[in-house]
Amino acid sequence: MKNRYAVILAAGQGTRMKSSLYKVLHPVLGRPMLVHVLNQLNAVDLEKRVTVLGHGAEEVVKLVGGESEWVQQEEQLGTGHAVLQAEDMLSDMDGTTLVVCGDTPLITGSTYRKLFEHHEKTGACATILTANAPDPNGYGRVIRNEDNQVERIVEQKDTNDTERSVKEINTGTYCFDNKALFGALHQVTNENAQGEYYLPDVIEILRNQGDAVSAYVTDYFSETLGINDKVALAEAEKIMQRRVNERHMRNGATMMDPGATYIGMDVTIEKDVTIHPGVRIAGHSVIKEGAEIGLHTDVTNCTIGEQTVIRQSVIEDSVIGKNVMIGPYAHIRPETELHDHTKIGNFVEVKNSTVDDGSKVPHLSYVGDTTLGKNVNMGCGTITVNYDGLEKHQTIIEDDAFIGCNANLIAPVSIGKGSFIAAGSTITKDVPEDALSVARGRQTNKEGYAKRLKNRK
Ligand code: UD1
Ligand code: CA
Repeated sequence: MKNRYAVILAAGQGTRMKSSLYKVLHPVLGRPMLVHVLNQLNAVDLEKRVTVLGHGAEEVVKLVGGESEWVQQEEQLGTGHAVLQAEDMLSDMDGTTLVVCGDTPLITGSTYRKLFEHHEKTGACATILTANAPDPNGYGRVIRNEDNQVERIVEQKDTNDTERSVKEINTGTYCFDNKALFGALHQVTNENAQGEYYLPDVIEILRNQGDAVSAYVTDYFSETLGINDKVALAEAEKIMQRRVNERHMRNGATMMDPGATYIGMDVTIEKDVTIHPGVRIAGHSVIKEGAEIGLHTDVTNCTIGEQTVIRQSVIEDSVIGKNVMIGPYAHIRPETELHDHTKIGNFVEVKNSTVDDGSKVPHLSYVGDTTLGKNVNMGCGTITVNYDGLEKHQTIIEDDAFIGCNANLIAPVSIGKGSFIAAGSTITKDVPEDALSVARGRQTNKEGYAKRLKNRK
């Protein structure tokens, strides 16, 4: 047992985000910042995690529910005051407490592990995770003495000119001897530029009482980015996007323009998948071997089968088989299953329907609440009329049926196996197997009539 604990600070208002969304719920690559932090913490064995939350955090509690215990900080009086809220839950424990901010979602589990190892090896009372920042603006600076030992941290707003030029920053992540931490927190005052109880002040307090204070300098400043505003949020998104895309490319995915490709955290991509620019793949999607996801396609929570090709389309909550062709400009809506070798062409919308092997809906159709058999051909402009203004109804089209162009199939209705529907028909009754159904006005030709009309003028 290593007796490791963590306190996650997430009570701040997030004023600089200028948003009504609670700060740590802002997503980075589709996943809330706080969830990134909690996930990465899985890399270190923690016996207890306490997340400090502020007002309006009901949504956060729903989210962290099983992942962390939580405590409320009624008034946001500073990071030191925030950690003190966890005192009742932690102060009796012997061991090491990691304190981490909920707004640093890019720090990896491996960095947390190295921080713990460094802290435990040196036997320091406190270890700060620091980084050298090309632009340290906005961060607390790490002040060292002539012997290069850490003395204290100065917040940006409290720095003098010399301190401001220091490039080594406090990442807001620390390991503390648990009991020493809570002892020192009671000595922190709010006599500073912001009138807040600063957690970093604990460093100087511990040092002054003769405790060893250390720093672990990570080489990866970009990991430690703190998200205080939307500019930093966009930067974090870019860094995370790059991290995820590189992982997929190393696993054999081809990306024509990784900077313009947005793959969510929970997406699986098999080898030899090609992804064109402007693509977004979100949710729990799986893209199987050899599939091609064309320009500006948006896929959410879908399985896309082997060798399937999608061009410029939107696909949601659906399962797509092998060797399927979709698009350009198709919309595959939730609960759709397209089986192998099917084709959904341009300007076709499919919703809550199953399309069996080899069937084709090549142009300008709406297919809703429909079961399409094998090798069905649906002509251009054909529509399943599934809604009567009150309820949705089912259409069944059996194997090998051929539906002529611009037919309306008024549901509930079923079209028998091998039958033909004449173009332009409005079908209101079931069609038997192998029948031809024509349901349209008969054509009359009036010889010479048009010419007579024109001559009258
Ligand atoms: C903090 C550090 C700074 C460090 C930077 C790293 C302090 C005083 N400063 O500054 O040295 O360089 O992080 O990103 O700690 N929070 C609460 N309750 C509060 C105040 C804040 O829970 O009363 C939480 C916030 O939700 C946030 C975290 O603590 O997740 C850090 O607070 P924030 O205001 O963002 O601090 P910074 O100004 O970024
Ligand atoms: Ca911050």
